[in-house]
Amino acid sequence: MLDYDILLMLPGPTNVSSDVLLSMSKPIINHRSIDFQELYLGIINKLQKILSTKNAVIPLTASGTGGIEAALSSFFEAGEKIAIIRNGVFSERAGKIAERKKLNVAYLDVKLGRGPKINDVKAFLESHTDLSAIYVVYNETSTGVTTRNLPKILELAKKKGLITVVDAISIVGGDYLYVDKWKIDICIGGSQKALAAPPVLSFVSISEEAIEKAKQVKPNTLYLDLTDYLKWYKERCETPATPAIPLFYALNAALEKVLKEGLEPRIKRHELAAKAFYNSIEKAGLDIFPEEEFRSNTVIAVKAPDTINNQEIIKELYTNYRVAIAGGMGQLKHKLFRIGSMGDIRKDFIIRTLTGFFDILNKKGFNIDIKAAIQMVDDVFIV
Ligand SMILES: Cc1ncc(COP(=O)(O)O)c(C=O)c1O
Repeated sequence: MLDYDILLMLPGPTNVSSDVLLSMSKPIINHRSIDFQELYLGIINKLQKILSTKNAVIPLTASGTGGIEAALSSFFEAGEKIAIIRNGVFSERAGKIAERKKLNVAYLDVKLGRGPKINDVKAFLESHTDLSAIYVVYNETSTGVTTRNLPKILELAKKKGLITVVDAISIVGGDYLYVDKWKIDICIGGSQKALAAPPVLSFVSISEEAIEKAKQVKPNTLYLDLTDYLKWYKERCETPATPAIPLFYALNAALEKVLKEGLEPRIKRHELAAKAFYNSIEKAGLDIFPEEEFRSNTVIAVKAPDTINNQEIIKELYTNYRVAIAGGMGQLKHKLFRIGSMGDIRKDFIIRTLTGFFDILNKKGFNIDIKAAIQMVDDVFIV
């Protein structure tokens, strides 16, 4: 079924299986019809299961950034103060969006390569008394960092009465995420990463508390006004503007596969895959970028040795092995390799990626024992 010429091992988009791709070839339907209502409701119900929530989850015809912009524009207004935990490019970008919306942003800066210490969050929240919300990127794709203490951070924030906003774009479907249990008021996800659907759909879950808050806010967007989406969903089970129907088919098919696999087995598969990557890369003598307790199970960030040009290696891997991986972002552009280990990730993808990667490094003068390093992948999957 899966026959990839170019293997996408990017931190998104990830490989999309042929059955999901084929689902997009169905006829276009009227988005004001029972057929669309069924499709829309089916997607929402599946997303609710995947996010472990009873809240409404609104799919948007917009990439992850659009989902973030929708969230920051629909529930907050100019002058309002929100906290953002800034530990990479995506948390920084959320800050830029919030600032453009004229929100007053208080940043808790965290060293790249880790998540925040809970005591720092506590002290920060105590010293900022006028906050209305906290924004956390659960999985910082730019550094391969998962904020493992997210539930504790959210607990502290809720005790202070804050609205909690979580970017789960590069982790939903690949690691634990409990929107209701963790009290996430607004959770943003994306289609093209661990859910293995095509790019350019996002979705936002919205709690009753967030809905109540929105009543006091004049949204500063029309196209991305989530309160309008909610109204249309509740009244007609439709979207206010024309949705990307083929992408909705694909998302529906991908979500069906996620639920068929089962969330727990899927998360375990991601855990194993990440472990295989980490063990093998360390055996090869390379360094992992994030501190151990914050290592992501969906995005593997490896330090690029000073003696090499990471972009050159990435290009050679693509040309000679047909495997796509990414470099760093922002100030880490030349300092990292980032490998996506999510969605349909499986053992042979890991072996193909690492064999090519190590081989190219050896041609640049490294002395990696490829057999021994690849054995680490096998060992992880034997259990
Ligand atoms: C954590 C995170 N947030 C936001 C985004 C932006 O999503 P998109 O590129 O789909 O707009 C990404 C994309 O990589 C991401 O990983």
